[in-house]
Amino acid sequence: MPEGPPEDPSGPGHVVLVGMMGSGKTTVGRRVAHKLGLDFVDTDEELVAESGRSITEWFVDAGEDAFRTAETELLGRILAPGPTRVVATGGGVVLAEANRTRLSDCRHTVIWLRAGPAFLASRITRKSERKVRPLLSGDPQATLERLDAERRDLYAEVADIVIDIEPVMNEGDHPRKRLGRLIIDALGRTGAQVHP
Ligand code: S3P
Repeated sequence: MPEGPPEDPSGPGHVVLVGMMGSGKTTVGRRVAHKLGLDFVDTDEELVAESGRSITEWFVDAGEDAFRTAETELLGRILAPGPTRVVATGGGVVLAEANRTRLSDCRHTVIWLRAGPAFLASRITRKSERKVRPLLSGDPQATLERLDAERRDLYAEVADIVIDIEPVMNEGDHPRKRLGRLIIDALGRTGAQVHP
């Protein structure tokens, strides 16, 4: 753990979105933060900004292990005590036990945006989904199925709130807006302390 101010066990925590690639953590996280007047941070964006290396460069040049180490170190800093942030995490953040321990801190509210691999594959292969994901360079659906099997229990382990996004995204107008609203309502119900 990086050095930092002593932790206040009663202080507000952060709102953290977890889930597989393509579940919309960044888009909806940004929207929720905006609506609640909170800061937003995306771990991948932050890692790229801090290092000057794209996610592909991390995976290809430095390797996945180095990426995971940097991601874990960054998450520790992002989840430090301070004004509440909405945090969109990379899909693999739950792989490290240190991250799961941090996410399980009861001050934070962890929201799992859950969806099946076929649905995620169809979203990811859409033109509008521009994010480059080195792990999905082969057969996206087969990879997502494998990752889903590996990670499902880990997301469940850290999640305080689970939202099944498929019905929300498949029906009606403005799905992202409705998903944002669902998240805000769920935060209200859990009584999560969010302090700008
Ligand atoms: C990854 C997810 C990506 C990014 C990296 C690895 C994963 O983030 O961190 O490509 O292992 O699931 P998103 O979940 O935001 O796509």
